[in-house]
Amino acid sequence: MKNHVTTRWFGDWANEYDATLGKVRRHHQLLDLAARLSGVTDGDRVLDVGCGTGLLSLKFLKRADCRVTAVDNSPDMRRLFQAKIDALGLRDRVRCARQDAAKLRFGKSSFDIIAATVALHHVENKRPMLKTMRSILKPGGRLVIGEVDVDTTGDHADPKRLARILDFLKDEIVEALKEGGVPAFSRMYDNGKKHILNLGEYCVSAGQWRALCLRAGFRRVTIHDLRAFRWFKVVVAVR
Ligand SMILES: C[S@@+](CC[C@H](N)C(=O)[O-])C[C@H]1O[C@@H](n2cnc3c(N)ncnc32)[C@H](O)[C@@H]1O
Repeated sequence: MKNHVTTRWFGDWANEYDATLGKVRRHHQLLDLAARLSGVTDGDRVLDVGCGTGLLSLKFLKRADCRVTAVDNSPDMRRLFQAKIDALGLRDRVRCARQDAAKLRFGKSSFDIIAATVALHHVENKRPMLKTMRSILKPGGRLVIGEVDVDTTGDHADPKRLARILDFLKDEIVEALKEGGVPAFSRMYDNGKKHILNLGEYCVSAGQWRALCLRAGFRRVTIHDLRAFRWFKVVVAVR
């Protein structure tokens, strides 16, 4: 049921995605940092989880002669990415498929890199997802998570929790307005209530991601700041 809420939301947003969040500079900085920290090299097999319109996958494909499998559970997002793949003649380097991040179906040790930007916070129960991700990574493989660094867990009636989330939302909404104009502001503003009430949005802090990855069996986890926006972090977990 909760998944349907998120799929509907992204179905509705898909056509505007590149013209709103896709225009926001700090979003591209997050994608660039995630791709750089992944250490992707020629020949790597990369899984992009929650690929959306393919903005992150395209950064990987530009950076190295790698092969990308991109998954998303929104048919509208996938349709837009598939159109880009076709237009750019990338069919032999990237495959876009329907899969749910919470139930990834790939063989053991399939990938050198798993990457996801602002996608994994949509999955409420993160522990089984991270265990599966570890098992489908090759030994030494890297999980790269670009995410919002804010803890939205806890009691919805707790005013301290609300204040913490509003601190983030204020910066997020102002940046969106400055860089993506009123349409981007409007999207981010609507999204705010979903974060506050955990309606398909379940952000945890970067420190919480680190603890979750270590518990899932990753051996080394580092956290990297995005200088331009203090609320975004990239977490790199090595299998
Ligand atoms: C904010 S967009 C991010 C897209 C892209 N990674 C980027 O950074 O531009 C989040 C994406 O995650 C997808 N998504 C959300 N929950 C998902 C799930 N459980 N399984 C697969 N994809 C999911 C949405 O459909 C959407 O395309």
